[in-house]
Order: sequence, then structure tokens, then C-alpha cells
Amino acid sequence: MGPVAELHMHLEGALEPELIFELAERNRIALPHEDLDALRARYEFTDLQSFLDLYYENMAVLQTEQDFADLTRAYFARLAAAGVVHTELFVDPQAHIARGVPARVVFEGVADAVAASEREYGLSSGIIACVLRDRPVPEADEVLGELLRLEVPLLGIGLDSAEVGYPPSLFEGVFARARAEGLHVVAHAGEEGPPEYVWQALDLLGAERIDHGIRALEDPALVQRLVDEEIPLTVCPLSNVRLEVVDSLAHHPLRTMLDAGLLVTVNSDDPAYFGGYVDENFEQLRTTLDFTDDECDRLARNSIRASFLGEGRKRELL
Ligand code: ADE
Ligand code: ZN
Repeated sequence: MGPVAELHMHLEGALEPELIFELAERNRIALPHEDLDALRARYEFTDLQSFLDLYYENMAVLQTEQDFADLTRAYFARLAAAGVVHTELFVDPQAHIARGVPARVVFEGVADAVAASEREYGLSSGIIACVLRDRPVPEADEVLGELLRLEVPLLGIGLDSAEVGYPPSLFEGVFARARAEGLHVVAHAGEEGPPEYVWQALDLLGAERIDHGIRALEDPALVQRLVDEEIPLTVCPLSNVRLEVVDSLAHHPLRTMLDAGLLVTVNSDDPAYFGGYVDENFEQLRTTLDFTDDECDRLARNSIRASFLGEGRKRELL
């Protein structure tokens, strides 16, 4: 298999249980779990919200620049071991600001690790700040303003958190501003939400990639649009199983998507929560869905094509 880029991974979703305990001790935060096993017992999810509840709760241990830098480096180390060459990582600033941790602390820590990723881990990286769609629209606009003021080295802006009931249309103005600032645009859509949200992400937000997008399959005209315009879908197989978006990996529609000519990529989403990093997602596709070397190679090439790397670097990697 050729070089792989990971394009859909939430940094806070790489917070492993062991690191939660380590950071709780370092920051003198009392955890509501007696030990690692008690915490791990909570990693049973029935839908997106049941996961998000724990995901946001666990973030309480992330307090200092050092915590964010350590978390980012732990993720890079794991990717380097898997031979991944590039990653575009999501960060959720509102989730930290809302609990009193300033954006400056979050991004100084993350950006420090990102700036060193080539030298320390042999992989390139970029940051995509995500808007939490289940929080107020004016807050998203304020936070975007704050990130621009801080001159956070951002690759782009994304849209995540609880999907159903929070259509992309709410954030048209925020994303127009981000585009005017030269940021790339991506959006979660069609994970639990309907195909209509994917249309809106494309037409109203100007999304260049769709995160998940698996429910696009319910709308043939949408599939045609995504194929014709070569809009990448960053699919997360193990996440979809753990959040019961699909009933089992054996029934995952990834091959159907690939065969339909969609530019699909494989990603981990929240690797500390869903049972595997990007390499483990590939491995399970091979073992459970009998993905061939050729299919995995196509998925790997798609990840380079779908990335926001420069054209010259893409040519070297393809
Ligand atoms: N935030 C972290 N993981 C997410 C997912 N899978 N969907 C939406 N928001 C998220
Ligand atoms: Zn996601």
C-alpha cells in the first residue's frame, strides 16, 4: 500500500484512558472513575450523542499548553509507527473555551507539536478548527474571530458535534467569513443526519470535503454530484460500527462507495474511543471485508489526493 494521509481525526478523540489518568494526576483533577477499568467500562456507545457525552466529559483533564502538546505528540508517535505521512487534525476550541481553557492555551500547545511533526516524527500536519454545531451560532463567529486575532496557523475550518437538528445552513455566515480569510472548508454531514445536510454543506458552506457522508448513498442525485465533482468523503469504518451508524463492519457500505466512483478515504475519527487508529481501520477492512491490496492502495491514493497538501507534494506521494 502506498503512503496514507489521515484527514478525519479529532485530536481530543486521541485522548487514551491512560493519558486521562496521567493528566488528572498532573493537574490534580479528581476523576469520577475509580480506575482504568471503571473508565473503560463506559466505552459502550449506542449513538453519536452517547459517545459525545463521554468525549466532552473526559476533556476536563486537558488544562495546560503542555497537555495539548503532549496529546498531539502522542497521536503523532502512533501515526509515525503506522507509517502515515500526513495528517490534518480536528480541534474543538469551543469545548475548551466553554470550560475556561482559553483558545490561546489550546492552540499554542497543539501548534508547537504541529510545527515539530516533520522533524520529530517524519510526518507533515495541519490544524482544522471545528465549529460545534450544537452550540450557538454567535459563539462560533466569536471563536473564529478570536482564532484569526491569535493568528493560529489554521489549514481550515470544520463542523462537528451532534448532527441531527443542527443543519449546516445555520452556519452559512461563519463559513463565508472563514472562506474569505482563505481557510479550507470541510464539514461533518450524513453521519447520522440526512442527505439534505450534505447538499447544504456543499451549497451553503462551500465544503471541499465531506466528513463521513455515508448517508449520501440514500440519494442517487447526490452521489452523482459527489462523483462528478470528485468531492472526497472521509469515512471512518470503526467509528460507524461503534456509534451504530452501521450494524456491523461486515455490512459497512465502504466498498459500495468505492465501486460507485466516490473519492472515499479511511480514517479513525476518535481512535482512543472506537478501537483503532487509521492503520487498524485498514487492517479490519482487510480481515473482515476482504479488502484487497488494490482496494487499499486506491484508498491510500485517495487520501493523498483528498488532502490539502500542495500539488507538488501530492505528485511526489502519488
Ligand atoms: N466529534 C468527535 N467525533 C465526532 C463524530 N464522529 N461526529 C461528530 N462530531 C464528533
Ligand atoms: Zn468526526
